[in-house]
Amino acid sequence: RLGLHQRNVSNLPLTINQLFSRQKPEAHSNEPVTVHGWIKSVRKQKRFAFAEIRDGTTSKSLQAVLTADSARQLSNGMSVALQGSVVYTPSRPQPMELNVMEVKVLGDCDPETYPIQKQSLSVPYLREQVHLRPRTDSMATILRLRDKVARYFHEFYEGQDFLHVHPPIITGNDCEGGGDVFRALPSSSALPTASSCDSHPQLATQRTEFFGKPSYLTVSSQLHLEALASALSRVYTISPTFRAEASQTNRHLSEFYMLEAEMCFTQDLNSVMDVVEASIKHVLRRLAGPTGMLDELKDLHRSQGDGTSSSLPEETQWWDCIEKPWPRMTYTEAIRTLSTPTSPVQWGEGLSSEQEKELARRAGGPIFITDYPTSLKPFYMRSNPPSDSHGPTVACFDLLVPSVAELVGGSVREERLAELEASMKAHGLPAEELNWYLDLRRYGSVPHGGFGVGFERFVSWISGVDNVRECVAFPRWAGRMAG
Ligand code: 4AD
Repeated sequence: RLGLHQRNVSNLPLTINQLFSRQKPEAHSNEPVTVHGWIKSVRKQKRFAFAEIRDGTTSKSLQAVLTADSARQLSNGMSVALQGSVVYTPSRPQPMELNVMEVKVLGDCDPETYPIQKQSLSVPYLREQVHLRPRTDSMATILRLRDKVARYFHEFYEGQDFLHVHPPIITGNDCEGGGDVFRALPSSSALPTASSCDSHPQLATQRTEFFGKPSYLTVSSQLHLEALASALSRVYTISPTFRAEASQTNRHLSEFYMLEAEMCFTQDLNSVMDVVEASIKHVLRRLAGPTGMLDELKDLHRSQGDGTSSSLPEETQWWDCIEKPWPRMTYTEAIRTLSTPTSPVQWGEGLSSEQEKELARRAGGPIFITDYPTSLKPFYMRSNPPSDSHGPTVACFDLLVPSVAELVGGSVREERLAELEASMKAHGLPAEELNWYLDLRRYGSVPHGGFGVGFERFVSWISGVDNVRECVAFPRWAGRMAG
């Protein structure tokens, strides 16, 4: 029986993926079909022409065989509807081809000016063409990968009784306390006019602040997730987050997606890390499995760099790290590991991304670093019992992976009201601003923890595409917003 994706539930035309998924060729022999898509390439010969048609629903393109005459008008990038009959070719790499009877051009495409030519196009050039970039094979693969990663994460969390929730994008706080927030401001024409304030005095505060107080785009959904977890026990979201960081690195975007999860009734940092490890391994296993896309991803890995390499990069790849346990090491041990007599690392210093990559390289794969100094982390993390050998630490972790460095950050949350108030004070956060958050500790507080996975960094690690700007369709970073 055909799966739901193989049948059309409306008058939409057949997709190339649906066509390739047909399981019983003999049942469809000689059946006329109409395929819609874009021309990826055309090879014109004396009597015949061969066109590669793609529609993005699969990485494979369909080979269409046409008479030279009917192909005369065709060129790269054109959109077409091709009517013909399918010829099954199971022994060839392409399972079928289309013998075209009728060609209809839906949208012309001037080959002289079309910005997406067949030859390989440079990364900076394609960043100028983000609206057309999804037509390249590599960006289409990244977009299919993002789709699968999100679906597999949903699968895992659903199976563990986590509810998928929708926290707000506009917030009144800076969760991470880093000050890298975007203000959410309406255009001046959307604000109440002086005359409307005269007749409705309650609108007066909105003359300057739409919500009556400063508002921001969220830097993390965590605080709202904690409120939801305080009622629903286990929650997660895959939401956009915004950071006004000026960083021009290959790991930072101004708008990125984060998978964030929050779970109640645990104070055990290991159990929070277990969820991170199991959820990511679930996604990796599914990507490497029969309905995944490992071959496509290996091709993408090989095509990185100058695009000429036929072998995979030497560092440990994610598909080699699925079945082994991921090591866990405290920050204090990590500092010891990284220190050398000539370049000692001081306890209390943050780790650079190079040091993080070095730790992952030595671990031969992902590694959790736990219990960082309190001074390096935000206000909401639970403090650890004091130690004689070093300064105060919090019950937190970062997951570091080869080539990307920090992929996940998480912690046990400070669930005790007095300790949380003290921590907010120490971080210079006025209690009034987060009074609602303190309510969660006043009324039925529970031990809980959570984490955030950077979605684009995850895609970067999995795809081998080393800059997160190529891991999202429309990247935004300081000084740049194309498309
Ligand atoms: O470590 P971060 O800042 O943690 C939080 O925001 C927590 N409130 C999450 C939580 O516990 N619910 O960010 C989490 C992850 C990082 O490990 C990184 O992968 C990614 O988000 N990230 C970014 N990705 C792209 N561009 C940026 N500017 C990023 N900043 C963080």
